[in-house]
Amino acid sequence: MTGEDRAAASTLLLAGCGKMGSALLRGWIAKQAASRFVVVEPQGRPADLADAVGTSWYRSPQELTQALTPAAIVFAVKPQIIDDVLPDYRRWATPRTLFVSIVAGKTIAGITRRLGAASLVRTMPNTPAAIGRGITVACANERVTAEQRHLCEQLLAAVGESAWVEDEALLDAVTAVSGSGPAYVFLLIEALAQAAVASGLPPDLGLQLACSTVAGAGELARLSPESPAQLRENVTSPGGTTRAALDILMANDALVTLIKRAVAAAAARSRDLAS
Ligand SMILES: NC(=O)c1ccc[n+]([C@@H]2O[C@H](COP(=O)([O-])OP(=O)(O)OC[C@H]3O[C@@H](n4cnc5c(N)ncnc54)[C@H](OP(=O)(O)O)[C@@H]3O)[C@@H](O)[C@H]2O)c1
Repeated sequence: MTGEDRAAASTLLLAGCGKMGSALLRGWIAKQAASRFVVVEPQGRPADLADAVGTSWYRSPQELTQALTPAAIVFAVKPQIIDDVLPDYRRWATPRTLFVSIVAGKTIAGITRRLGAASLVRTMPNTPAAIGRGITVACANERVTAEQRHLCEQLLAAVGESAWVEDEALLDAVTAVSGSGPAYVFLLIEALAQAAVASGLPPDLGLQLACSTVAGAGELARLSPESPAQLRENVTSPGGTTRAALDILMANDALVTLIKRAVAAAAARSRDLAS
């Protein structure tokens, strides 16, 4: 049996099925990442997952049977409650079960204190996971086997791209760049849409232009072999319209400096909040 076969024949347990948890679950179901999905969610099954096949729903971990042997348990609850949730899952803290946390700011050491020694991956996803276009960065502890890393990659692949870091401290910078990053891009869209209206365009068209331009340019930057700097230069003719705008955005490195300050502030806040 290959790793993929074993994963596909196994059970995944999801603790917390809110915005991020349900995005993960939808991706796993679509990719058939396991044969059975067990979900613990106090609110019960969301209406849009009413027809989800292969799922069992529980309102509390006390309702789970002793016979359950999940290949992986994924925590997608809010940071404020994770400490209360973890002890309920101690009974699965054996080498056969992989634990994955997407809880922002909860460190491997902090989770281990409440869960006991376990194979554990701490991750930082982002909200485009809801449309299968997220990017998740993962950090494994020393108990995670090569096969469990592979299982984790499969689970994350269901909602987008993924990457690993070996140094957990880097997750603060990751949080500041890709975890919080969608908000910076939404702000750019808002600013571009407002500027469109200020330049005389109807609001609907302004928003459409802003969204499609950010999405299209982002996709071009992602797929092109050329660097973002080269792509920018490709559309900037001397004395042209783009140059006129960039002369303002790039004067004294204004935008770059602002973004660096913003990311540094987010990373510092991430370090402050870590527990
Ligand atoms: N959204 C993001 O951009 C993002 C990015 C990276 C990481 N994350 C992380 O993802 C995690 C989930 O965030 P979210 O935005 O998906 O939050 P959310 O929508 O509030 O989802 C959390 C869910 O967990 C449920 N829950 C509460 N107690 C539980 C328990 N004991 N067992 C199982 N489920 C329980 C909540 O139900 P109730 O409503 O009844 O409390 C809620 O449905 C957070 O830790 C966050 O740090 C989020």
